[in-house]
Amino acid sequence: MAILDKHAVIEKNATLLLIFSFLVVTIGGLVEITPLFYLDNTIEKVDGMRPYTPLELTGRDIYIREGCYVCHSQMIRPLRDEVERYGHYSLAAESMYDHPFQWGSKRTGPDLARVGGRYSDDWHVDHLSNPQSVVPESVMPKYAFLLNREASPKYIVDRLKADRRVGVPYTDEMIAQARADFEAQADPDKDSDGLLQRYPGAQVRNFDGRPGISEMDALIAYLQMLGTLVDFSTFIPDESR
Ligand code: HEC
Repeated sequence: MAILDKHAVIEKNATLLLIFSFLVVTIGGLVEITPLFYLDNTIEKVDGMRPYTPLELTGRDIYIREGCYVCHSQMIRPLRDEVERYGHYSLAAESMYDHPFQWGSKRTGPDLARVGGRYSDDWHVDHLSNPQSVVPESVMPKYAFLLNREASPKYIVDRLKADRRVGVPYTDEMIAQARADFEAQADPDKDSDGLLQRYPGAQVRNFDGRPGISEMDALIAYLQMLGTLVDFSTFIPDESR
């Protein structure tokens, strides 16, 4: 009882209560924050993660430009209903090369973190051109114009350099070959050995099935790689942290 009596003193004195609350919050804050300064990295390294290819990065920029993130999240939470619907929950490492990240905060449409490989390229062309042609009740806008807009590699070298500046490990070689890699990924007739060596697992196809490299090609290249880099049949979470 004695200790409760002493606590009553704090409860009756607003200034004292404020001082002690402040002390408790300060200690709690320090315990939470200080260790972060002594960790090299808070992101667990995961096999398979690599920077975006020049074409995927271009597609990602189109995704941001068109505001796809307004209706779509890219973050599967570790909750049963999400994991059963979308697949393995998202790992921090899976967005380590995202500047800015696309976790999103609104799901008018489904989460897209693992949409890669779920549909064919043709399905994406049809769906993006006219979503209601495949999902009649869809409220998603039409993006058919992307087929008629050329995706240009004009700024791709600067684009990779900008990402390197904020920490994405693009090598000098990747930057020097950016234009060639951009073109090689959308054209199965071009030599893609260098591309595949620099970006393991990159998918090389004519994504929209039409001649030339359109913004549709770039966007589908991006969508088809989302969530496919980490092999979850062999992934073991690092429980030591
Ligand atoms: C106004 C909200 C809205 C916007 C903006 C939007 N979408 Fe959607 N999206 C939806 C809805 C709703 C669905 C579910 C119905 C359907 O499949 O069309 C959907 C479905 C999808 C799917 C199929 C996902 C799955 O797992 O079935 C993909 C892929 C997709 N959207 C990509 C995009 C891309 C890329 C953009 C930007 C170019 C975009 N969306 C913009 C609302 C939106």
